[in-house]
Amino acid sequence: MPATVIVGLQWGDEGKGKTTDFLAEQVAVVVRYQGGDNAGHTVVVGEETVKLQLCPSGVLYPHITSVIGNGVVVNPATLIRELDMLIGKGVDVSRVRVSRSAHVIMPYHVALDKANESRLAGAKVGTTGRGIGPAYGDRAWRLGLRMEDLVVEERLRERITRALEDKNLLLESMGADRFDVEPLVARCLAWGERLRPHLDDSTWIVQDALRRGDHVLLEGAQGALLDLDHGSYPFVTSSNPVAGGACTGGGIGPLQVDEVIGVMKAYATRVGSGPFPTELFDETGRGIAERGREFGTVTGRARRVGWFDTVPLRYAVAVNSASAIVLNKLDILSGIETIKLCVAYEIDGQRVDKWPSSGARLANAVPIYEDFPGWEQPIHDVRSLADLPENARRYVSALEEHAGVPIVFVSVGPERTQTIERAWRPMRHRPGALA
Ligand code: IMP
Repeated sequence: MPATVIVGLQWGDEGKGKTTDFLAEQVAVVVRYQGGDNAGHTVVVGEETVKLQLCPSGVLYPHITSVIGNGVVVNPATLIRELDMLIGKGVDVSRVRVSRSAHVIMPYHVALDKANESRLAGAKVGTTGRGIGPAYGDRAWRLGLRMEDLVVEERLRERITRALEDKNLLLESMGADRFDVEPLVARCLAWGERLRPHLDDSTWIVQDALRRGDHVLLEGAQGALLDLDHGSYPFVTSSNPVAGGACTGGGIGPLQVDEVIGVMKAYATRVGSGPFPTELFDETGRGIAERGREFGTVTGRARRVGWFDTVPLRYAVAVNSASAIVLNKLDILSGIETIKLCVAYEIDGQRVDKWPSSGARLANAVPIYEDFPGWEQPIHDVRSLADLPENARRYVSALEEHAGVPIVFVSVGPERTQTIERAWRPMRHRPGALA
């Protein structure tokens, strides 16, 4: 039963798309298990760059079934646009399966997200404005619509009428426009008609694949530090990107997971508000942002940039039970004279090694750094750890030591081939060995 979970170990945007894409040749099913179109995966295939918001990156491979799991919140308009884009590129999208139980992001969720953020003034979360929080909120409040509802007119009308009683009151109180029932019903029916061939019971797709011995990859969006439970609440997203989310949102049990691959960048970035102790506001930070093209895939917003922070890394490795790490964008640090690595915080005059669960404490954290001499030369063409400049090797070893888990891939450029693969098999089982 080989199942591998890929998770972000930072604040998202760690380059999980490249990792999934790198492993995709070996897998039969790729599952997205949480989040929605707040996420963006950029996959570079040959000359072409494909940006995906909902479909797992595996969709670009003809042998892969791409599953949008029950834990995802789906904006049907985004999904349809994405399918059309893929069809335009000659991709066979018939293998895209969408869980009937996944919740729908309705237009009023988007309106509420935007109206709420503009009302929060100084306390903004800095959401992507995609309706993610309101959609997950309705799911918990049992007011939501599921994908299966889009094809049943009577049920749709009943659910939308019920939801709009509250939503319109709230929207009006925030000075936003009301929604009418019938135009929404008509829109949902059109979405349902278009997406009907893709609707499926995603749990059984995953379970049947595992029973056959096929390799299933479960792909997280965002990262551990944006997790609703484990991140710096309330500056988090509304789902569980950590590996446990793969079980609830992907339809597998904890003991069916064989490997958890944590993905991280050689430095830190964060989009939106919230504490970020190692944030850089100087030329070095601007240089990293520029070389690393640190602009949001979905919103185009400039990402905040900072030094690597090992305090949340140790926490993220623990709560994800990460068994291996992929280190991305090491090349972006080339040319920096001194690289700083945060090893602990000082909070209220005391040294703190453990990630504080309290957002207020985190907001007062002053980083304690260790300095690492940098390296001058570009490393894009390096394909083995031994060929990295000595100072780069030292930095990678320090990260590995803090994580306590092997770094198995080091990415030195955006292309799939610009990767150092270490002599370690990240999969306990490979499809080839299961004949
Ligand atoms: P939401 O997920 O749109 O509700 O936004 C909540 C927080 O998560 C905000 O700080 C967003 O900037 C952040 N966020 C959501 N999705 C991503 C992502 O894919 N990458 C980085 N940050 C994200």
